[in-house]
Amino acid sequence: MLVLGASGDLAGRLLLPAVGQLLGSAEGPSGLTLVGAGTEDWDDATWRERVAAAFASVRATGARIDEITAHTKYLTADVTRPEDLQRLLDACDGAPAIYFALPPAVTAKACAALGQLTLPPGTALVLEKPFGVDQSSAADLNTIIGRLVPEDQIHRVDHFLGKSTVLNLLGLRFTNRLFEPLWSADHIARVDIVFDEPLGLENRARYYDGAGALVDMIQSHLLQVLALIAMDPPASLYARDLRDRKAEALRACRVWAGDAVAASRRARYTSGVIDGRQLPGYAEESGVDPARQTETLAEVVLQVDTWRWAGVPFRLRSGKALGNGRKEIVITLKPVPRLLPGLTGEAQPTRLRISMGPDRMALDLNINGPDDPFGIDRVTLDADFNPGRLPAYGEVLAGVFAADPTLSVRGDTAEECWRIVDPVLQSWRENKVPLEDYPAGSAGPSTWTE
Ligand code: BG6
Repeated sequence: MLVLGASGDLAGRLLLPAVGQLLGSAEGPSGLTLVGAGTEDWDDATWRERVAAAFASVRATGARIDEITAHTKYLTADVTRPEDLQRLLDACDGAPAIYFALPPAVTAKACAALGQLTLPPGTALVLEKPFGVDQSSAADLNTIIGRLVPEDQIHRVDHFLGKSTVLNLLGLRFTNRLFEPLWSADHIARVDIVFDEPLGLENRARYYDGAGALVDMIQSHLLQVLALIAMDPPASLYARDLRDRKAEALRACRVWAGDAVAASRRARYTSGVIDGRQLPGYAEESGVDPARQTETLAEVVLQVDTWRWAGVPFRLRSGKALGNGRKEIVITLKPVPRLLPGLTGEAQPTRLRISMGPDRMALDLNINGPDDPFGIDRVTLDADFNPGRLPAYGEVLAGVFAADPTLSVRGDTAEECWRIVDPVLQSWRENKVPLEDYPAGSAGPSTWTE
């Protein structure tokens, strides 16, 4: 594995710990060697310390961990220069997985420079989000990397696809006779995919202030979740079948009624208290340019134009510094065709809730009440999901090393996800949707009712 940007924050915070988790597990690849490349003028010893610290942070131990840490190399390089990249390729044994732990603009330049070299057959490219900044830049990047290696060797990482809860959508849908016959506009009234986090900015202004909640979460992660919910049953869960079905669902997806202004809302947090912690307002955070009007809470309502989903709103919402920390997929069924006279009380719709933290599911149903046998009462059947064998990021990396792109985002899909949100971004840039505010620690703007 060749890590470009090895001295950067992404490699230290996310990638190396995930590699450690993977190598420390039974699923870890054997015979992996790690080469780091960055602009910092480090020697091997400094790099090895960094790698060892990252592995220790996830308590990864074992022979494979010791082996990698002892032999990993670091080369100082400007990865936008072909001659430097050649030097890095020469330092790898065989065909590397090249991991771009770099800002998008540098990634694009590094890919262009790689185009001047001959890559060893079997080389894999691993790219982080954001993949481009809109549909057309994503298409340009796809063209550049498509010249380097075949699509199946390109892994656009979306760690949500490795989350055990998200993967449970597949087990739940396709191994129970109960859900699939109901899985359409005939029976489903709406779908909500909500990922509200208590976390604030966490010193990520440099990245986040240029992205915002819509791009950080909805354009990438939540649309992948939508695809798994909305897709038709694939013939198998292998890469081609699964990714074909996801792509089909996303191709049919657009903003509700084609009206990006009416279908979207945005807001930014002001100062407040979360879990007893005082948080400054987003605009006051260091590194933030308030004039950019970056939203920390975004919501968009989408439709999926297929027979299966005609008329069903898919509401995607995600935000930071929210008090409730609600992370769930809610499938709300339509009411029964007729509530029988003789039953008293209110029948609420059946709801399937899949929580993305804590990892569990719940089915809300109506039953008879405790006193009056004709009264209606509410109950919830729930179950914990089994923990995944690996944390989400490690699961996606396992696919990279197994040369299996099932959990990687395919190029056409990456472009579709931008096509879906581009009209919303455009309307926000034109200020057609007000930027509202909410106190940190609250549930969002008080005017936002579901
Ligand atoms: C990342 C986003 O991709 O996903 C973060 O950049 C977000 O802003 C994170 O907090 C959420 O995922 P997880 O798995 O850490 O809950």
